[in-house]
Amino acid sequence: MPYDLTYVSRATTPLTPAQLADLLRVCRAHNEELGVTGALLYEGGHIMQVLEGDQPTVEALYEVIAQDPRHREVAVVAAGPVSRRQFADWSMGFRDLSTDRSEFAQDARAFFASRTLLGERRPSAAQRLVLALRHSLVAFP
Ligand SMILES: Cc1cc2nc3c(=O)[nH]c(=O)nc-3n(C[C@H](O)[C@H](O)[C@H](O)COP(=O)(O)O)c2cc1C
Repeated sequence: MPYDLTYVSRATTPLTPAQLADLLRVCRAHNEELGVTGALLYEGGHIMQVLEGDQPTVEALYEVIAQDPRHREVAVVAAGPVSRRQFADWSMGFRDLSTDRSEFAQDARAFFASRTLLGERRPSAAQRLVLALRHSLVAFP
């Protein structure tokens, strides 16, 4: 049974499109080797990432990612076994909502803002955002 881990964090300094593209290139190659799939949402310095795969692989990768100095305030919002992968076709799907005015972007901003107000663990709000993210991924930033 696949294991799914979703975390949120904040970029230490805002990531430029070039830095995001570099990050994606490395992550996609590495995740493909590991059999990990998932997606990364970026919104004005806020990050949400979903990782899915074998539990030990996902947990070990999360430990590496959580130590990465490019972001901080890293906190798991949801983790556990799932019946099937939500991002099976994506070694790392991506969406940058920083300059986006869509309803989805507004929902994402509200999610990140309420995270600060209500604390870290908001699994149902995160899950709604993950579902919206599934329908709005791009192959390259
Ligand atoms: C927001 C964020 C998300 C990341 N996601 C992944 C990921 O999904 N897969 C991955 O291999 N590395 C990811 N990384 C990078 C790792 O922290 C680390 O730099 C990388 O795995 C090390 O690669 P190396 O083997 O080339 O040293 C992420 C880093 C950041 C800042």
